[in-house]
Amino acid sequence: MKNYKIGLLRGDGIGPEIVDSAVRVLEAVGKKYNIGFTFTPYLIGGAAIDACGEPLPKETVEGCLASDSVLLGAVGGPKWDNLAGNVRPEKALLGIRAAMGLFTNLRPAKLYPALKDECPLRSDIVANGFDIMIVRELTGGIYFGERGYREGKYGEEAYDTEAYSRMEIERIARVAFETARKRNKKLTSIDKANVLETSRLWRKIVHEIAAEYPDVTVSDMLVDNAAMQLVRNPSQFDVIVTSNMFGDILSDEASQITGSIGMLPSASLGESTRGLYEPIHGSAPDIAGLNKANPIATILSAAMMLLYAFDEKEASEAIVAAVDKVLNEGLRTADLARGETKALSTSEMTDEIVKRL
Ligand code: IPM
Ligand code: MG
Repeated sequence: MKNYKIGLLRGDGIGPEIVDSAVRVLEAVGKKYNIGFTFTPYLIGGAAIDACGEPLPKETVEGCLASDSVLLGAVGGPKWDNLAGNVRPEKALLGIRAAMGLFTNLRPAKLYPALKDECPLRSDIVANGFDIMIVRELTGGIYFGERGYREGKYGEEAYDTEAYSRMEIERIARVAFETARKRNKKLTSIDKANVLETSRLWRKIVHEIAAEYPDVTVSDMLVDNAAMQLVRNPSQFDVIVTSNMFGDILSDEASQITGSIGMLPSASLGESTRGLYEPIHGSAPDIAGLNKANPIATILSAAMMLLYAFDEKEASEAIVAAVDKVLNEGLRTADLARGETKALSTSEMTDEIVKRL
């Protein structure tokens, strides 16, 4: 029997609950498809700050690098909000992505037919549904640029800088074109080339790489327009490629039109590891420990892991199908339950998904 070593980064807030749900689903699907998993937890974020004074301990980085793949919950919370930037929980998330070389973040946002009524857009706008793959650059740009404080023209001043190298743009563009090639061969590159120098380089290089992919249609869109187009006509998008910050923002927007941010999984990939899988949402401190969070984004992240890291297509599809079933049967967690619908707890939703595997 195959056995995969999975590092667990439960993190903060709802992180532990949702990761434990995904672990239960992986164990159940593993039994069915004869796949073994060995799970090893490592500290990250606020939990790591509390236990050892730093958000990303060395043992965590080493453990993740030695794992076959990593599953992450979420980091951060009000308890650690007033710490300096370089010791905040969020720094650990950026740090582990960089340490593992995860420059690609795939964030699929699709409308489940069963959740059409939960979509905040008018029904005629989503009559054809939508199925978008956001390819977010993950280890460059302004989140990783030089930053600091200085005396400026008006006194005290803070600054953050955005830099993108040719190499970074070329490699993420190739991932995006390859992704588009496997889907509907339509790529939208989102930037702010009317203002930013980094965006002008981005645009130029995306067009150079396009020459290698004549079968893929590529177009450019300015990010402000893209934010509008996502709610005006989301079905026009297939694959989107964009920078770290624009991808962070647009993926939250895209998640909300699927009904809930609690639905969106993601895969963070690099060249030399099998990646890190995490929901796109945060640690939701307001509902932490209450057994209320929607575990589906993390469970679907585990399904992405089976597919991308281990090529376990059947097992991955079984999870996706089980999630489809619970949604089609009208089962909802609190983020999606409206009116008379009873909200299932995190563990109840997990039980229902496990039952349908
Ligand atoms: C995300 C989050 C993170 C990011 C934060 C917590 C650092 O918002 O995964 O989208 O910006 O990447
Ligand atoms: Mg985000």
